[in-house]
Amino acid sequence: MLIRKKLEQILGSKLEHPVREEWGDYSVFAESPEEAEKLIKQIKQSELNKLIEQIEVVGKGFINIRLKVEYLISQMFPVLNKKTGRVMVEYSSPNIAKTFGIGHLRSTIIGQALYNIYKSLGYEVIGDNHLGDWGTQFGKLLYMLDREKLNAQGATLCVEDLEKLYVRYHKISEDDKQARKWFKRLEDGDKLARKLWEKCVQISVREFARIYKLLEVKIDNAYGESFYESLMQEVVADAKTIARKSQGALVIDIPGHPPLMLLKSDGGTTYATRDLATLKFRKDKWDPDLIIYEVGAEQTLHFQQVFAAARMLGYVREGCSLIHTKHGLYLAENGKKFRTRTGSTVNLEEVLREAITRARNNPAVGIGAIKYFDLSHNVQSDIVFDWEKVMVLQGNSGPYLQYTYARAQSVLVRAKGQGLRAKNLAPSTKHLALNEEELAVLRWIYRWPEVVEEAGEKLAPNLICNFIYELAQRFNTFYNKHRILNITPFDPPLKLRGGNPALPAGRPKGEGDIGSRDFRLALTEAVGQVLKMGLEMLGIKALEHM
Ligand code: ARG
Repeated sequence: MLIRKKLEQILGSKLEHPVREEWGDYSVFAESPEEAEKLIKQIKQSELNKLIEQIEVVGKGFINIRLKVEYLISQMFPVLNKKTGRVMVEYSSPNIAKTFGIGHLRSTIIGQALYNIYKSLGYEVIGDNHLGDWGTQFGKLLYMLDREKLNAQGATLCVEDLEKLYVRYHKISEDDKQARKWFKRLEDGDKLARKLWEKCVQISVREFARIYKLLEVKIDNAYGESFYESLMQEVVADAKTIARKSQGALVIDIPGHPPLMLLKSDGGTTYATRDLATLKFRKDKWDPDLIIYEVGAEQTLHFQQVFAAARMLGYVREGCSLIHTKHGLYLAENGKKFRTRTGSTVNLEEVLREAITRARNNPAVGIGAIKYFDLSHNVQSDIVFDWEKVMVLQGNSGPYLQYTYARAQSVLVRAKGQGLRAKNLAPSTKHLALNEEELAVLRWIYRWPEVVEEAGEKLAPNLICNFIYELAQRFNTFYNKHRILNITPFDPPLKLRGGNPALPAGRPKGEGDIGSRDFRLALTEAVGQVLKMGLEMLGIKALEHM
């Protein structure tokens, strides 16, 4: 167990990291200086004391704790605390016969990151792409496809063509009569209607697959709304005792919110009915402990209603949490909705391809830059899209982190070329006095397991971004100031701290700084490992060269 958890057990409250590192590695506020002294005594009497360099009270009862460097070194290759439980992440979820929007891009990127984070934490994770492939709007489409004779074998249509059919429908028709008729045909299993619908699904799924390939995203399942068609009558039946008729529609009253509509006045099912059916199905099939809905903030009310109704219907086991992430929008630099250079609404594929071009045709860098840019923002905030920031090589960006990782790898490759390997440091570092830059890396890297846990708890991949960015900066500061290879291998390391060591014969000039080659190599390897874990959680490739 990590020292943090053990300290928290003794202290009975959560530890923080002090705002300034020179104050200590952990701190906690005790009720009074006396209480603080009491707690300190307990810690000093515990077995933890041997890992603590200094512990003191400041002010009105702040306890500051500084960890021993030996402990920090022992945590140099941090291991995540393993959790158990089953988590579902529902993400991406684009709509058939509509273009894959930038909102779906956010959902795909954030959803995949959450999926990866939970997996790294040891959870059993199930992904589901809740495709929008059912609903009365398909009636319009089918009617138009039939009317314009677009159902012929070999007719090649793309999603854009399908989208235009909705527009044309509204031009020629004032009401939903034809649409409803055709959707009814679809629901009744009419052969032609099914065939046309399947064609739309096929066209869309093919285009979505191109985007998933570019993004290198694979989602475990894609049940889609249509899958729940037959389950919806069960939902309606289950709801009998809690639903009521309202102007011909069937609704469920939700305390504190408007009623949820289960059936429209024409008897048609709704988006919400399908979400209820989905929850019923998920409970039976997976019985998850947590379901994360990675969907934009504009659907907040919908999920409040669905979650409440699902609990009333017994579709959610006690102890199972349902969370809607409510991601924000993409905005253009002028604060308006994000559009492409040509001024039309954003064509996502165009944006992704431009990213690759801007990354000198390296897809891993271009796509990584887009993902990192998105994930480095708080999920709920709106994002102002800015190519400069997406691609900047010196700054908080995907390329900067990939570059830092590659830099660490190139050191290790060179070391290997010289027959050197980072050794197991534990026994030999006892007397190692580290320089400021090495310590800065160590004083950061031990926090990694805490950060991953927090990112999972708060559904906040941006915490992973913040962490690896800071790690990269600390590593680069160290790298720029100190040599790693081609220094005397102080092995066993010199006892330098406090002493006045004799210079060993043959020690090169300019290497008066403290530390050994082996330690630095290990540190480089450790930083590389954590950067790689972090990047991969974000769905970004850690490149060996750049
Ligand atoms: N297809 C929907 C849309 O694009 C998102 C689906 C969200 N998930 C859900 N279970 N309702 O708006």
